[in-house]
Amino acid sequence: MKHICVIGSGHVGLVTGACLAELGNIVICMDDDAARIDNLGKGIIPFYEPDLEAIVHRNMGERLSFTTDIEMAIKPSEIVFVCVGTPQKASGEADLTSIEAVAQRIAKAMNNYKVIVEKSTVPVKTGEWVRRTIKLNGPDNSRFDVVSNPEFLREGKAVYDFMHPDRIVIGAESEKAANIMKELYQPLKAPVLVTNIETAELIKHASNAFLALKVSYINAVANVCEKAGADVVKVAEGMGYDKRIGRQFLDAGVGYGGYCFPKDLAAFIKIAEELGYDFELLRAVRKINDSQQAQIVTKAKGMLWNLSGKTIGILGLSFKPNTDDIREAPSIYVIRQLQQEGAKIKAYDPRAMGNARVALTDVEYCPDPYEVARDSDALIIITEWDEFGTLDLAKVRRLMRQPVILDGRNMFDPAEMERLGFVYRGVGR
Ligand code: UGA
Repeated sequence: MKHICVIGSGHVGLVTGACLAELGNIVICMDDDAARIDNLGKGIIPFYEPDLEAIVHRNMGERLSFTTDIEMAIKPSEIVFVCVGTPQKASGEADLTSIEAVAQRIAKAMNNYKVIVEKSTVPVKTGEWVRRTIKLNGPDNSRFDVVSNPEFLREGKAVYDFMHPDRIVIGAESEKAANIMKELYQPLKAPVLVTNIETAELIKHASNAFLALKVSYINAVANVCEKAGADVVKVAEGMGYDKRIGRQFLDAGVGYGGYCFPKDLAAFIKIAEELGYDFELLRAVRKINDSQQAQIVTKAKGMLWNLSGKTIGILGLSFKPNTDDIREAPSIYVIRQLQQEGAKIKAYDPRAMGNARVALTDVEYCPDPYEVARDSDALIIITEWDEFGTLDLAKVRRLMRQPVILDGRNMFDPAEMERLGFVYRGVGR
């Protein structure tokens, strides 16, 4: 059992804090947002993440508490996780102002040996800057080690990913710090890789960039499949049997979105540039992703002729299923483009309509997919929520003005859709 505090109670911080409490540790989650902390104290979770609420409720009080007082969080803690945001600047590089500010505040609260863990995704060398900042701003005798322990949590599966990690990466500058971190994660029984701090920082960037590359690769293959009369779903299946390739992250679609891939890719390209390397490959990954989103609008035009005055129903707004997150979601780009062409938009998402209402205006938000279908000239599937897979398609067809479906996630079988009387197009098939 360890005493831990987590600075930053966003997606990463809250999942990390709650799960570490679930493993038996005493955890204090800290955030400057008083309303958020107040709500968390009442057991109200600020975003949707499966299983998180149950874990928070189970551990609240005895093992898990919330505060806005950073000193009160840090002083009793042996391990301090830094989970504050690293948003993207206009140049593409990560904005590390919050990390520096937290390092200064940690320095002021230093009272005994601590392991300061960078969990947020940060550029290589950030650990070194954190160390210097604490040293310069803290008491002369402050004893601490900085550790890079990148998170590999997917939104929507974050609790599962935390509890069943493929690996734990610990970038540490001392054996003592590495051992404390190994003990902390010991209950998870995952492979542990101990490296220096710079290597751990790069493992995170290299992993996310590689996953984004896989998605863009299959999307590029999908474009060739469409021209060749091949089926990208089968191509991915055939490739996936090869253990060196693997089937995961080979789903062609409308492109990747979310708070991580677009931001982390831009940051990695920038890091490489600053180190004197032009990472052309990753620039191509990004370009393919942009064109994949644009392609949906082009395809809609191809299926509907003029978009002006047409009603288009959008199924799915979040950047992927099982989250209410719409940051960098392909739906935002697609809807804005369709609106520019003069289309009227109806939309439904099981979780993300609250967030969408803030980002997207002039959209008619519907209570279910059938209301979206009613009198629509076309339906576009942007997010592959399970409930879309079990729709009564005959009913959908009856409700629509024209039976046109553009399936941006290849949820349905083209032959079956044709049999049901739809004009149907997927991606790469
Ligand atoms: C991603 C990584 O998967 C996590 O390991 C990492 O910890 C996280 O970023 C982060 O850096 O915090 P996340 O952004 O939650 O997680 O979502 P993913 O499940 O990776 O999906 C990313 C995007 O790729 C989504 O828009 C998804 O629709 C798209 N995608 C994914 C595809 O289009 N096709 C695929 O085959 C897989």
